[in-house]
Amino acid sequence: METKILPVTDESVALAKEILLGGGLVAIPTETVYGLGANGFDGAAVKKIYEVKGRPTDNPLIAHVDPGYDLTRLVYIENDYALKLKEKFTPGPLTMVFFSKGKICREAVCGGDTLAVRIPSHRGAQKVLAAAGVPIVAPSANISKHVSPVTAEHVYEDLHGRIPLILDGGRCTGGIESTVLDVTGKVPRILREGLITREMIASVAGACEIAQHKPTDKVRSPGVKYGHYMPRCDTARFCAGEEAKAAALYDETVKSGGRALILCGEERRGAFAGRDVISLGIGGEAMAANLFAALREGEKRADLIIAVEPEEKNGVYAGVMNRLCKAVKKYGEGGEKH
Ligand code: TXA
Ligand code: MG
Repeated sequence: METKILPVTDESVALAKEILLGGGLVAIPTETVYGLGANGFDGAAVKKIYEVKGRPTDNPLIAHVDPGYDLTRLVYIENDYALKLKEKFTPGPLTMVFFSKGKICREAVCGGDTLAVRIPSHRGAQKVLAAAGVPIVAPSANISKHVSPVTAEHVYEDLHGRIPLILDGGRCTGGIESTVLDVTGKVPRILREGLITREMIASVAGACEIAQHKPTDKVRSPGVKYGHYMPRCDTARFCAGEEAKAAALYDETVKSGGRALILCGEERRGAFAGRDVISLGIGGEAMAANLFAALREGEKRADLIIAVEPEEKNGVYAGVMNRLCKAVKKYGEGGEKH
């Protein structure tokens, strides 16, 4: 199958609509990462998402709707704080998990009784949603376990030959996936951290918990138990303050003929003078925006990516750390090889 990459125009959106309503898949830009979309009412189309990505079939999908969509067509809104959060943070990178009315096909929710819903703010995504007129279920548009895509080229690298169309809406500005929030209980609970932080949610809802996933738990957000975001090269992660160790590993690697690359915040790059460094920028938002693109660049440019953690761990950094810890294993704990 030939895979077209087209900029978002009236014509390409019309083509996307035709493919989606005909049971096919289209990759679409969002403000977080690119999504691989299918009509949420079409079970056969949604099955293709799992096949194309190699995604475990017990990991449910997010339904994307446009800002005018009446959510009560799809879900039960039982807690008023959810409406306040919707008002304050959407359209945008917040996904809320409600009890489902069972309208979205069971393939998308893996037979579960809840549905994750997101209202993207990206104009390209909104145009496709408005044109299609149906909820579009979409995971990130990468091969399962690989780094999430933040450009149309990243999607092409993973999925060319497997899908007919990628809509190119430029580089995603958010850079990490949406915050996934369980709003079925009295207190909202974060299942996956992202750009809408615990502090931001608590300021509107009064409180906000973070789900703790222990290996023995029945996992509420199935995605958290799988390998994720892994670049196709060796990786090693060091804590903030361990720059000397990171530099020593870099030098050792280069000495033995390997290509190494350092990933770190701008404030740390001074510790790595004369070495190949990708700076993730200044501050949590910048790190989020740059992380996946840097990991994708790194796997091409190096045999070993050496990442240094930011010192700060709260706010947006929580989402950055979540992705970084899954993508790059701690040195000495299997991080050197995977
Ligand atoms: O920003 C995003 O959320 C991107 C863009 C494309 O919208 N999408 C995305 O989808 O990251 P995906 O499939 O890669 O991740 C969805 C996460 C998974 O961890 C999944 O387990 C969780 O959301 N999830 C989906 N439906 C759920 C549900 N009903 N209950 C709990 N967790 C759910
Ligand atoms: Mg994903």
